Amino acid sequence: MTQLPGLLDTEAIRKDFPILDRLVHDDRKLVYLDNAATSQKPRQVLDVLGEYYERYNANVHRGVHVLAEEATALYEGARDKVAEFINAPSRDEVIFTKNASESLNLVANMLGWADDPYRVDQDTEIVITEMEHHSNIVPWQLLSQRTGAKLKWFGLTDDGRLDLSNIDEIITEKTKIVSFVLVSNILGTVNPVEAIVRRAQQVGALVCIDASQAAPHMPLDVQALQADFVAFTGHKMCGPTGIGVLWGRQELLEDLPPFLGGGEMIETVSMHSSTYAPAPHKFEAGTPPVAQAVGLGAAIDYLSAIGMDKILAHEHALTEYAVQRLAEVPDLRIIGPTTAEDRGAAISFTLGDIHPHDVGQVLDEQGIAVRVGHHCARPVCLRYGIPATTRASFYLYSTPAEIDALVQGLEHVRNFFG
Ligand code: ALA
Repeated sequence: MTQLPGLLDTEAIRKDFPILDRLVHDDRKLVYLDNAATSQKPRQVLDVLGEYYERYNANVHRGVHVLAEEATALYEGARDKVAEFINAPSRDEVIFTKNASESLNLVANMLGWADDPYRVDQDTEIVITEMEHHSNIVPWQLLSQRTGAKLKWFGLTDDGRLDLSNIDEIITEKTKIVSFVLVSNILGTVNPVEAIVRRAQQVGALVCIDASQAAPHMPLDVQALQADFVAFTGHKMCGPTGIGVLWGRQELLEDLPPFLGGGEMIETVSMHSSTYAPAPHKFEAGTPPVAQAVGLGAAIDYLSAIGMDKILAHEHALTEYAVQRLAEVPDLRIIGPTTAEDRGAAISFTLGDIHPHDVGQVLDEQGIAVRVGHHCARPVCLRYGIPATTRASFYLYSTPAEIDALVQGLEHVRNFFG
């Protein structure tokens, strides 16, 4: 078995993930390499979800009975866990949403109204990058259409990095918000946050970071990032689906208006107008995803017990190995950085002129799960002149043997298509 320095004890870890023992297509061992789409869930999270519904289920913040109080304590306890996990200065800065898309839409919908204290309007600019997931493009296009603000973006270099050579022309005195991804879901690139934040701060622009592919894989410290908003999702980090997080700086959350109106986000309501509860409740209208938040709390406990720095080291070792092994496959072209430096554990590639959907299907027949398509980042495919990619992505339970299986599987694909 291939041993690499920095690997976690995957034999022990894999025992926590029942699904990894599954066979697919009758007798194929599952090789799950689609972790950037969603991660698998450990028994520790599954048990907490079951226990929540078996013992504590009630609506939160609304009841005086025992279950309501216990469910509220669990839900708010999950908020404490998230706050600690991302080093938030205050638990009130942690807003639960349903996913990272909702978190990013929430930020875009806080801005650009008639009384917007940050004045996003037709004389101003919004900056994103060409490597964003659609969830960090479309909300800004909508904000731009609603306000007349101009949407600008950083382009990409040939090796899959942000082209910051014209940073002073892209981020200008007119820029009101810069929103960018920390780790690209399609290219795997880890972006240079510091340089972008420094320039944004020079011109007084807000900074929003999409950390969906970072929070599951590396220590995340919102204070060190010096951003104003950070968005991520629970299901990619061993938590359930239906739970996302938006962290925002307290004074912004105080200043900015809510997006959704409804129960529990108010202070008072009359037939003419309403006043709002303080953050985070101002941004959490309606019954929140209680069980999902509690499940995310359990996922955070699980990841923290292993250690985010150790998870990062594990994935770095695997990525280095994968980049090296994939280079042995004839006609394989990595789309994105071709070294393990400054890249995350999602590797996109093309294989000659075999369509990625065909690659994915033949890999699937061998039990190997990858994602194919434009990965909700179509501008990246347009930039590199390709219709789609095949993407393999790793997590804390991934092994070198699974990378070997992928490489062997790709040989089979090549033989299959002659
Ligand atoms: N954003 C997820 C991915 O990249 C779904 O696959």
